Amino acid sequence: MYQKKKITFAFGLFLLLLSCTSGKQVQSLPQDVPDRFVKDNMEYAGVMLKLQLADANQKFSTPQGAYPRTADKKGKLVTTSMYDWTPGFFPGNLWYAYEYSKDEALKKEALRWTEKMEPLKNFTEHHDLGFMMYCSYGNAYRLTHNAAYKEILVQSARSLATRFDPKVGSIKSWNRFASWHGDKTYYYPVIVDNLMNLELLFFASEASGDPLFKNIAITHALNAMKNQVRPDYSIYHVVAYDTASSRVVGRETAQGYADNSTWARGQAWAIYGFTMIYRFTKDPQFLKTAEGLADYYINNKNLPADKIPYWDFNIGQPGYTPGVKSNARNVKPPYRDASAAAITASALLELSGYVPAPKAGQYRQFSVATLQSLAEPQYRAKEHTNANFILMHSVGSIPHNNEIDVPLVYADYYFLEALLRYRKIARNEKLFEE
Ligand code: GLY
Repeated sequence: MYQKKKITFAFGLFLLLLSCTSGKQVQSLPQDVPDRFVKDNMEYAGVMLKLQLADANQKFSTPQGAYPRTADKKGKLVTTSMYDWTPGFFPGNLWYAYEYSKDEALKKEALRWTEKMEPLKNFTEHHDLGFMMYCSYGNAYRLTHNAAYKEILVQSARSLATRFDPKVGSIKSWNRFASWHGDKTYYYPVIVDNLMNLELLFFASEASGDPLFKNIAITHALNAMKNQVRPDYSIYHVVAYDTASSRVVGRETAQGYADNSTWARGQAWAIYGFTMIYRFTKDPQFLKTAEGLADYYINNKNLPADKIPYWDFNIGQPGYTPGVKSNARNVKPPYRDASAAAITASALLELSGYVPAPKAGQYRQFSVATLQSLAEPQYRAKEHTNANFILMHSVGSIPHNNEIDVPLVYADYYFLEALLRYRKIARNEKLFEE
């Protein structure tokens, strides 16, 4: 453990320098402050992951896998089958911890938990293949350069591409979505989270030389920019299309407070998604969108001072009404969502590399301040608690009355990713291999 008081002072100084300097100058700031902060958190992550592995490994041989996802009310590990949307994050966390520590024991486990997911390369039942395969096999390939993993990723992209209808111009997220109003079922719902899955497609075009995947990703992104992003740069969670006419037939929420509200994790997915899309396309309209989305989040008057958002930016406000079937009607207090904070922190570090001063400094400062909050005891769990997930206080879905104020494996994933990005930026290293 580092000496907390000293580091807090140094951190304050670091943030002050970040706030009054350009993006370029930030890179020459004293390196030891971020290094010590990242070291403390990454070493802690290694400890927590090994404790979690001891638990998870007992169920490793379950035929469909038993992938850590959250904790129950008693703090015991809850796992899901690999066919849910989150299996890739646990191996992803192992890969990030290995990337930092070079601990071969973590690598061995990362390989085991990744390779068990190979059958998913042919899975086509929902859109989450990007999350599933890019967070697991994507990191595996990045860190091992094993050509077999590249093939698995390209095959996964082929499977994801089957959900793209060129007439609609979007990848179908779920096979159906029942409105919280109880009056409709939609059969071509596209959710904002889907932007994250495009990273797999961009990768697959670069890896295979086939432009098909990239073209699908760009078409989907353009459609999302048109139909899913509001004029004030907040997002609709679900946009439903009619397949015959390809027209929008619904704009609703699944996991947010109300149809016209802004679900915090959805906004985070969109900031991350459009930033990543700009990385691959260098199309300025995607950068403009990413900045607008980021500014909406950063400047939101309902964002608490510690920068960890409530699960929706509009909870309980006049003019925002949950559907009659939604649990969001009843839930108090306004819970925080650490997962949205971690995703945004990671995204803003990348985005800060694409914008000039003073915005670059502002994005970095905001991201680092968020990471600092997440590393405080209020959010960072102690060993042998929280099912040995690192972060507490995330929300899965309040409307579904599911996973409320719990750890979530993807909150940890983006926290670790952001820490590694922060270290690279402080060391003036590139975030991505060319
Ligand atoms: N992608 C599902 C969620 O963010 O809950």
